[in-house]
Amino acid sequence: MASFNVYVVFGVLTIMASGAVMAYEVDPVKANNCETKMTLHCVTEVFASIFKTGIVTDNCCIELIGLGQFCHYALIKKTLQNPLFRNNDTSVILSRGAQVWNKCTLVNKDVSPSPSAY
Ligand SMILES: *[C@@H]1O[C@H](CO)[C@@H](O)[C@H](O)[C@H]1NC(C)=O
Repeated sequence: MASFNVYVVFGVLTIMASGAVMAYEVDPVKANNCETKMTLHCVTEVFASIFKTGIVTDNCCIELIGLGQFCHYALIKKTLQNPLFRNNDTSVILSRGAQVWNKCTLVNKDVSPSPSAY
């Protein structure tokens, strides 16, 4: 009987562990706390400039660079999974995301104290 119980416990642990791995793969946004690294104001600005129209202000660019490229693309991909944005062309959105990112890296250089960049 003891070996039966051990088997059951092992099975439950295995299921829990594989669930955790799946959750990590399914939602890198949550796994990396991407949603907690920017103000809502800037998330809205970046979102609008990629999926609609508009510009990202310098302040929000600095936040975006702080967020990091991984989270930037993870958030874009997550948004593309939303039924509201399923119709958007993934390659268009990703290239717009890259444009915003590149623009923001330039803004970030502007504010850096080193004048030798130019
Ligand atoms: C994304 O899709 C929406 C709704 O179909 C559309 O209004 C918007 O212009 C699209 N955005 C881009 C960047 O293609």
